[in-house]
Amino acid sequence: MNKDEAEVRIAKLRKEIARYRYQYHVLNKLEISEAALDALKHELYKLEEQYPDLITPDSPTQRVAGGVAKGFKKVKHDVPMLSLEDAFNREEADAWLERAKKLRPRAQFEFYAEVKMDGLAISVIYEDGAMKRAATRGDGRVGEEVIRGVRTIESLPLHLRVPKDSEIEHFLKKHKGHMDEKKVVRTLTVHSGRIEARGEVYMLKKQLEKLNKDLKARGKPLLANPRNAAAGAIRQLDPKIAAERGLSFMGWQILGDLGVTTHAQGLEMMALLGIPINESNRLCANLDEVEKFQKSIGDKRDKLPFQIDGIVIKVNDSVLFDSLGVVGKTPRAAVAWKYAAEQGTTIVRDIHISVGRTGALTPVAVMDPVQLAGTTVTHASLHNEDEIRRLGLKIGDTVILEKAGDIIPKIIKVLPKLRAKNSKEFRMPHKCPMCGSDVKRREGEVATVCANKHCFAQELAHLQYFVGRTNFDIRGVGSKIAEQLLQNGLVSEPADLWKLKSVDLLSLEGFAEVSAQKLVDEIQAHKKIALDRFINSLGIRHVGEETARDLASAFGSFSAFRKATPEELDSVDGIGESAVESIRSYFEDKRTADKVDHLLDVVEVETMKKKAPGKFAGTSWVLTGSLESMSRDEAKQKIRNLGGEISSSVSKKTSYVIVGENPGSKFDKAKKLGVPTLNENEFLKKLS
Ligand code: IVH
Repeated sequence: MNKDEAEVRIAKLRKEIARYRYQYHVLNKLEISEAALDALKHELYKLEEQYPDLITPDSPTQRVAGGVAKGFKKVKHDVPMLSLEDAFNREEADAWLERAKKLRPRAQFEFYAEVKMDGLAISVIYEDGAMKRAATRGDGRVGEEVIRGVRTIESLPLHLRVPKDSEIEHFLKKHKGHMDEKKVVRTLTVHSGRIEARGEVYMLKKQLEKLNKDLKARGKPLLANPRNAAAGAIRQLDPKIAAERGLSFMGWQILGDLGVTTHAQGLEMMALLGIPINESNRLCANLDEVEKFQKSIGDKRDKLPFQIDGIVIKVNDSVLFDSLGVVGKTPRAAVAWKYAAEQGTTIVRDIHISVGRTGALTPVAVMDPVQLAGTTVTHASLHNEDEIRRLGLKIGDTVILEKAGDIIPKIIKVLPKLRAKNSKEFRMPHKCPMCGSDVKRREGEVATVCANKHCFAQELAHLQYFVGRTNFDIRGVGSKIAEQLLQNGLVSEPADLWKLKSVDLLSLEGFAEVSAQKLVDEIQAHKKIALDRFINSLGIRHVGEETARDLASAFGSFSAFRKATPEELDSVDGIGESAVESIRSYFEDKRTADKVDHLLDVVEVETMKKKAPGKFAGTSWVLTGSLESMSRDEAKQKIRNLGGEISSSVSKKTSYVIVGENPGSKFDKAKKLGVPTLNENEFLKKLS
């Protein structure tokens, strides 16, 4: 992005982030996920890093958190409360370290890795050991005095603890030579002067659930996350209510003239003084060790009693830490390594059309690369025209992208306020982008389809499908080679593959004698194919792997399958009406039928043992009421496995009605029509 573009983008991002910030901090109600908001902030941070002269004092990156609310005394932090820059993967963590090392090339780096709590940053000041002041971070310089709320937090001492002699001795021995012993002893014993503990006020997951249940019962709005919950509770003007909320505290920084020289020593000291620190925190010699820590914490994340959103890496040596300085509001010596967001934001640069095996035109968003759950994503299927209308998406829009659970990224929301002036409306083409033929959209269907059955894109997609893993499983015919084979007229239908000679391939890009022969051998080695795979490979609409297997075991041979009447097809378990119809039209179409004949000339389709007719073959069953030993679905499956048919209503043709607990009107009807009924025991006997 050039500077002019960056300037426009930065202005838009700032405005939108400010809007969300207000929702988040003041209204406690965020329209988008925190992960998506983080992604927008990250983009802004990166742009400002690229063009530092575009940074303005009012940029959200220059402010640590929302302003000071009315009703609380303002207090100034002696040492500003900083924030952290984010990294989302190992590369970004490496890049962070590289930047630091560049500034201090001769320094020895050691790291302290901490759990990153999801809560509210608080500074607590002790004077001569007594809690004197507690403040929120506010804008980093000035926060709100919240000591009334903080006093209710049982995990924070109102007076600092004096460690046992043995603990002090142990500390001195452990860090001998790396501290100012006298000062350390003074800090631990008489706590003279000012000691500032900073850390996270948070709410246990259990506590938050309880609170939300309560709020729900009273018809009040629920709290979206522990951060909001902690913020709300700590700001309670009534300390009684704050106490009921059951907040906890975990320290992550200690300030004062303490005599320690590393961050690890500082936190160890904090724990001795009676302030909790996270027990998982670890010293790490290098980023490999940090990565291990990041992974192990990630693995137990769901089981932890509190919410975390990542880990924090800090340079352990305090002098080195300070000497690395601050950029904007973040120290160079620390970074938050956040757990891969399953949501992110990016910009849709274009919408391409891909034409599939069935001729359907699928719009695909082409986006700026974005990291999502650990991988880089650049494309996302938009499925069809309706989906684009539903999203309200224009080319050039900023979108929220999600990769939840499964592997397929999905655009879930457009952020229209970030829309650029030159954004473009998407129109589905009237012609197929591959072959130029007209496209049509059948009434009642969402897909737009290329009407040309000879469309190159369809041929290509089918050829690739044909050689794919679930079909002929021929390795070495990737998309590029398949395209060349079709374009050069070497293959115009699948059967042609077996007619290829190595000399034919030599004319293609990337083939030499050895590789050409190898591919020919590979193709010839796959002449024989199982019946179900062969049926699947034809690419008949509505006939997938599962259906192909059902058909293969029902008919046993390809010729029997091909000759089957619609009624015979219909009687096969698992075959629906749409499959029957498309099988019929597939073999009726001379073009596809010819292709099959050509294939049968060159390949050998194995026969399959026909499934023996089960003992329930030719019988029809109805179920009513619930069974004790199995669910109704299980019972139906068992009947089908033995060749019986399931019907939903009782008629004279019904062979048996199975009557379970609390039967319905079907039982009465069976009695009326004189259809035999079976109770559960009788049914089980018949099964065995
Ligand atoms: S250190 C010197 N350590 O994360 C840098 N922050 O995204 C100051 N947080 O404002 C922060 N756990 O509210 C630090 N172990 C930890 C933390 C932590 C949670 C919060 C804190 C901070 C925010 C930055």
